[in-house]
Amino acid sequence: MPVEFPPPELRAACEEIVARYPVRSAAALPILHLAQRHYDNWISPEVEAGVARYLGVGDAHVRGLLTFYAMYNHRPAGRHEVWVCRTLTCWLRGAAALKAAALARTGCARAGEPSADGRFLVKDMECLGLCELAPAVFVDGTPHTHVTPEALARLLDACE
Ligand code: FES
Repeated sequence: MPVEFPPPELRAACEEIVARYPVRSAAALPILHLAQRHYDNWISPEVEAGVARYLGVGDAHVRGLLTFYAMYNHRPAGRHEVWVCRTLTCWLRGAAALKAAALARTGCARAGEPSADGRFLVKDMECLGLCELAPAVFVDGTPHTHVTPEALARLLDACE
């Protein structure tokens, strides 16, 4: 079923974003952020096609962005996202224990798969740019540094 994009409630915000760029296609990343927030934290193939039509690009262009950038979800995702950095500095400072704690606390079977109750999605991420404060995680877009498994469990318990 084709999706009309943008829906009326996003039209003004989308036009405002597109107006910032010299060409429509350059607005793809912020438009995809907006779409993901609006459509339950993921971009379905129908929304992907709607965004492509809106930006005047091919579906493959949008698909390429969705699959290249780890912050986008092209499959159903949980309401809360837990990004655990797995790059070297964080790895050496305990990222594996953080990932194990995140999976155990959220009920996610593995990274990249939402929990059965739809509340959480744990993602393996590459460097989050906070190496000097490792290990680092993001919970719903907020960075947390020098994180311990216990502190991460408390953060996750506070998610609705
Ligand atoms: S290695 Fe984890 S934030 Fe850079």
